Amino acid sequence: MTVQIIPKHPIPSGFSDALVKPADYALLYDESIRDPDSFWGREGKRLDWIHPYSKVKDTDFTMGQVSIKWFEDGMLNASVNCIDRHLATRADQTAIIFEPDDPKATARHITYAKLSEKVNRFANVLLSQGVMRGDRVIIYLPMIPEAAYAILACARIGAVHSVVFAGFSPDALASRINDCGAKLVVTADTAPRGGRRTNLKSNADAALLHCSDRVRCLVVKHTGDQTTWIDGRDVDVLKMMEEVGPDCPPRPMNAEDPLFILYTSGSTGRPKGVVHTTGGYLVYAAMTHEYVFDYKDGDIFWCTADVGWVTGHSYIIYGPLANGATTVMFEGVPTYPDPGRFWDVCDKHKVTQFYTAPTAIRALMGQGSEWVDKHDLSSLRVLGTVGEPINPEAWVWYDHHVGRGRCPIVDTWWQTETGGHMITSLPGAIETKPGSATLPFFGVKPKVLDPTSGQIIHGNGVEGVLAIADSWPGQMRTVWGDHERFMETYFQQYPGYYFTGDGCRRDEDGYYWITGRVDDVINVSGHRMGTAEVENALVAHEKVAEAAVVGYPHSLKGQGIYAYVTLINGADPSDDLKRELETWVRTEIGPIAKPDLIQWAPGLPKTRSGKIMRRILRKIAEDDFGALGDTSTLADPGVIDELIQNRANRG
Ligand code: WT7
Repeated sequence: MTVQIIPKHPIPSGFSDALVKPADYALLYDESIRDPDSFWGREGKRLDWIHPYSKVKDTDFTMGQVSIKWFEDGMLNASVNCIDRHLATRADQTAIIFEPDDPKATARHITYAKLSEKVNRFANVLLSQGVMRGDRVIIYLPMIPEAAYAILACARIGAVHSVVFAGFSPDALASRINDCGAKLVVTADTAPRGGRRTNLKSNADAALLHCSDRVRCLVVKHTGDQTTWIDGRDVDVLKMMEEVGPDCPPRPMNAEDPLFILYTSGSTGRPKGVVHTTGGYLVYAAMTHEYVFDYKDGDIFWCTADVGWVTGHSYIIYGPLANGATTVMFEGVPTYPDPGRFWDVCDKHKVTQFYTAPTAIRALMGQGSEWVDKHDLSSLRVLGTVGEPINPEAWVWYDHHVGRGRCPIVDTWWQTETGGHMITSLPGAIETKPGSATLPFFGVKPKVLDPTSGQIIHGNGVEGVLAIADSWPGQMRTVWGDHERFMETYFQQYPGYYFTGDGCRRDEDGYYWITGRVDDVINVSGHRMGTAEVENALVAHEKVAEAAVVGYPHSLKGQGIYAYVTLINGADPSDDLKRELETWVRTEIGPIAKPDLIQWAPGLPKTRSGKIMRRILRKIAEDDFGALGDTSTLADPGVIDELIQNRANRG
């Protein structure tokens, strides 16, 4: 085997005053691994504690008794750390720049003083609705400042928030409300995006039909569009915020009290509620935000993710605000009103750090470089990517046209479960390679394991599955209401390790290259989708007998959704029915789950014990059926020829 050594891309000249310098990385990393108690004991002090911690790390990855605690006897309040403690020095500094969907509407600059007032009032509204410490609150809002107010208001009173991405359907929303037993849902009337409006309130109404009638609904009248109103259940939150008092004392919380739940897809079953707690998560979000983006006072930080995903939690809200930063919240989409919107916003607000997903970069790259070249992007210092492996062409385009060769690119590998960055370069300290997330962040011990034996593969120039050998403060603590599922999902397959679900290569230089999921999870435009979820939605349709869903390479989305569908006897396999099934999945889960390709499958390849052989289905979906591998265990090998002949992806 010939080993191709990819040369490192040097740190741009002129980037010499970074927070972490090349010589620091190895030293600090070494300390973080050798002596986590002293390293994290020091890092924990970046927060304000109501009662200081005396114990730093108390973690156990042993299957059956997994337990993760950080700073466990410390008391703090996350909203105080994101707001109150900055007021003495930053009351008039902008905390949030809100850039509306409509480029002609004026952007709003919300100062720390204003943020404080809004969050206190919002918290008082929650209290007035009977929300207490430990209660769950679902936040189903678009990218508007009220989403930040709602999140921080929950943190202030010790309620546990669970943000549900506004693109999810009423059914998906209802299942999350019910799973966590939420007392209240916060939503908005309608949500403008890309010039169109989604009626969030009517989605919430539809969801609440499937929930306890005690669940209240706070409605942000954002656009003023007409919506239905149920007296006694629906509350005009903006109006109430004017009526309640402007001060709400923060609730002292234990470091290990849950801060939020975020639902994410896995390879089996329904989405699981990832639980993050207060102290460790906030230390980790703040620290990674500072070091990975080389964040300095006065910077204008823009993460283009939605608050409905963990990226929005850690790098729009918690990390930046804990650091007293100015964070941009963008309501719109990259291509509205034209493909120059991102660069227009960067220029307009003099953005210094820009953090987005490879899928957005590829989409904009496809629109032509003139959209970016004509903008003044001289304020930019650091560029970031997240969500999926970035293809080197997109990396080079990003570097050249957006960074103009001046800005280090940080390719940040992490997960909903990890709370913050895990493998990433550091702008002034680690040289990059297009497509590689480079090296582990402080305190992170990545291991490449042999997928079958589970043994550690030592040395460089190796490939396997990615596991993490020890805990870090931002790690999820449990699955909401199901600690057993937490242990089974992450600690059972490779005992003693946290298993990421990703494949990974460590090259000759010790750099990490994420090769994608090795489980039945697909990554569509940086969004995680369980194939089982899409299958469940499809088989819920009256004409579908069976369905198997796999991912296939998609030039813009990274992976596309490919569905093999077996219809019930007598159903007509028409194009109309394909459209109907697409719409069906959209309404069952949401637009992100819509299959890109549907193939009618009179039969699916199964083993004699009835297990669908997905490996074969993946190959056919990839249009790579020359090497199907061992098919000797198939019950009826004949189905394969039929599937190949009628394959939907002829790449
Ligand atoms: C999965 C986690 C963490 C925020 C966004 C997604 C993939 C994420 C990268 C990257 C290669 C990446 C992995 C991971 N992923 N970042 N920089 N390079 N792959 O969070 O929805 O929890 O998805 O996204 O496959 O396991 P998520």
